[in-house]
Formats: sequence, structure tokens, C-alpha cells
Amino acid sequence: MENRLELAKELLKGDGSLFLHLDYNANFYGRILLNSILGENNFRNEIIWAYRTGGSPSKNNPLASKHDTIFYYSKSDNLFFKKFKEKVIYEKPFFTTQKDENGNYYALVNLRDIFEGIYTIFEGDRKITLNVKPVINVSAERIENFLTQKPEGLLKQIILLSTREGNLIMDFFSGTGTTLTTAHKMKRKWIGVECEEYFEKIILPRMKEVLAGRGNHEPCGISEEVNWQGGGFFKYYELEQFEDTLRKAVYKPKDDKIENIEFNLDIKLAKDGLEIDYEKKFAKYTFEKLYPDVDIPETISNLIGKKIKKITRDKVVFEDDFEVDLNNLTFEKYPFLKPLIWWE
Ligand SMILES: C[S@@+](CC[C@H](N)C(=O)[O-])C[C@H]1O[C@@H](n2cnc3c(N)ncnc32)[C@H](O)[C@@H]1O
Repeated sequence: MENRLELAKELLKGDGSLFLHLDYNANFYGRILLNSILGENNFRNEIIWAYRTGGSPSKNNPLASKHDTIFYYSKSDNLFFKKFKEKVIYEKPFFTTQKDENGNYYALVNLRDIFEGIYTIFEGDRKITLNVKPVINVSAERIENFLTQKPEGLLKQIILLSTREGNLIMDFFSGTGTTLTTAHKMKRKWIGVECEEYFEKIILPRMKEVLAGRGNHEPCGISEEVNWQGGGFFKYYELEQFEDTLRKAVYKPKDDKIENIEFNLDIKLAKDGLEIDYEKKFAKYTFEKLYPDVDIPETISNLIGKKIKKITRDKVVFEDDFEVDLNNLTFEKYPFLKPLIWWE
């Protein structure tokens, strides 16, 4: 996780926060890692996500594991956060207690923890319901076979604590995508990263249901509390890894010796869509041959870091009026295309 956390620090806003959720297998490493990357001065809290559900004593251990750790760090002392109160009921009245509609004596005290159950917190006079029940087999939120799925209610509390509407939230280990679904329903922008097949199998269909506001799982989680009706959009990308690109490479052994293998001279990588005219020194690439559903304008936008202003059948126009002729994607004309295909 080290390189991810280093990158997270770089991407994090000056007043932003970082939460790292780990169980007993790794929490002690996580704390050391975060101290060294974000600095021990930026440690805010060790939140205990305590639950009664699930887990049972094992042969060698009479006490079941009943909590995970969520490390809460910031980037600086100048962090953004909101304060919440919780209602605590007392047996007897004393100077700060009030009486509620059921005749109970209660006081509003600073929120102290995150715990299992349905409860109300207060931001000033605003009442906010939280449903922080673990996701078990019969939960509506449950995505099959994913044992560590978190309830949206847990993410809701963390997101309320540390962000405003419109803020950007990033989960670079997205899993079932709970951070993303919760962020979306709470009108935050989000970026998710996932390296496993869960992306296609779980996150993508789940996010589509969230956008539609209904489906096999939706409405579920915080949908009712935030009156989620659907809406919004997202884009997704499959990033090609170095290994994938190498797999598509064409190699040419020199003198039949394995240690002399080099990329096939001029045609270095991804030969499938490449058309080369050596005499005219002309190279053209048909991206669709390598990636059937490729979005060429979007790919170019990523490569050159400019936003798209207009797309027509034949060209794409960028924010600064730079135009790319989609029918004539040659490396000669557009040298910025080269990194997509080969290294030199
Ligand atoms: C426990 S899940 C995270 C749950 C999620 N953060 C949430 O809030 O619901 C951890 C995920 O990290 C993913 N993962 C592990 N290494 C990764 C990497 N290098 N890049 C992207 N995802 C990774 C795993 O595939 C797994 O799905």
C-alpha cells in the first residue's frame, strides 16, 4: 500500500482527510505506514468500527474479533471537519439534561464513536439518521460472496464528518464500491480504482443501479435517508498495464539468442492496428483493431490533458480550439499518439 498512500498524500487537498480501514491482520502496519507518510502530527484518531454481528470464537480463541480499525489522518492541521452531537439517555436528570417525548432524560454530547445500529446524530438542530449495521447475508445491500463489504451508513458518517457537497472523494481500493455509491448518493464527486474483476462484475452494475435509482439491490443502504432518486453520470477507464502492453508486443530475437531479444525495430508494439509505409515514412494506427470499444476523443483528451469542447463525426475540438482529424490519425501529424503504442 505504500506507493498508493504516497500518491494519496500528493493528491489530497491541503485541508483534506484520509481514512484507512483495516482489520486485525494489518492495522499495526497501517499505523506505522501512515505515520511515516502523513506524519504522526497528522494523526487525528483511531476510529473503532465496533459490531456485534458476525464472527465467532474459534478453537484457539474464546473471543471473537468484533471490531475493525479506521485510521483517520489529515494532510495538515488546517483540516476541514464538521462536529456532530449524539443523544445520551440518563437515568436521572442533572443540570444539562432535557426531557424527550418519551419522558427520558437526555443530553446532547459530542459524538464519540461509530457503532453498530440505527441512531441519530445532530448537526446543530439538524437530525441525521445513521444506519450502521454490518452487511450480512440477508442485508439488502449484500453483494454476493464479498465478505468484507461495509455498510453505506458507515461511509455516510465518515463522509459527513470530513467533506462538503461537491467535494472529491477517492477510494483507490474500491472493492464492492461502497465508498463510491455512498459518495454519489451524497452528491460528492468520486474517483474509484480497482484492479480485480470486481470492477466489471460488481462495481459497474452496482453503480448503474445507483444512477437508475433502482435495480436488484437499489434502493438500499442510505438511499431512503437521503431520498436518493437516481441521476448523475460517471466515466470509466481501463488502464493498460505495462505487462499488458508487453504481452501485445512483437519481439524479434537477434542471432537467435534469448538475451538479445529486442522490440521489433520499427514496429515496436501493438502491431495489430499499425499500418506502416517505410518508403513514404508513414505510420498510421487503427485503434479500434486493438481495442474494439475505444473512445478515441477521450483517449486523446487524456494524453494531451485538454478538455473536449466539441466532437463531430470527423474531428474533435479541444478547449483551446486545437483540432484533431479523426480520419487521419498519423503519428507524423500527431506525435503525442506515440506513447499509446510504443516506447523509444
Ligand atoms: C476490502 S476492499 C476495499 C473496500 C472499499 N474500500 C470500501 O470502502 O468498500 C480492498 C480492495 O482493494 C483491491 N486492491 C488491492 N490492491 C489493489 C491495487 N494495487 N490497485 C487497486 N485495487 C487494489 C482489492 O481487489 C479489493 O477489492
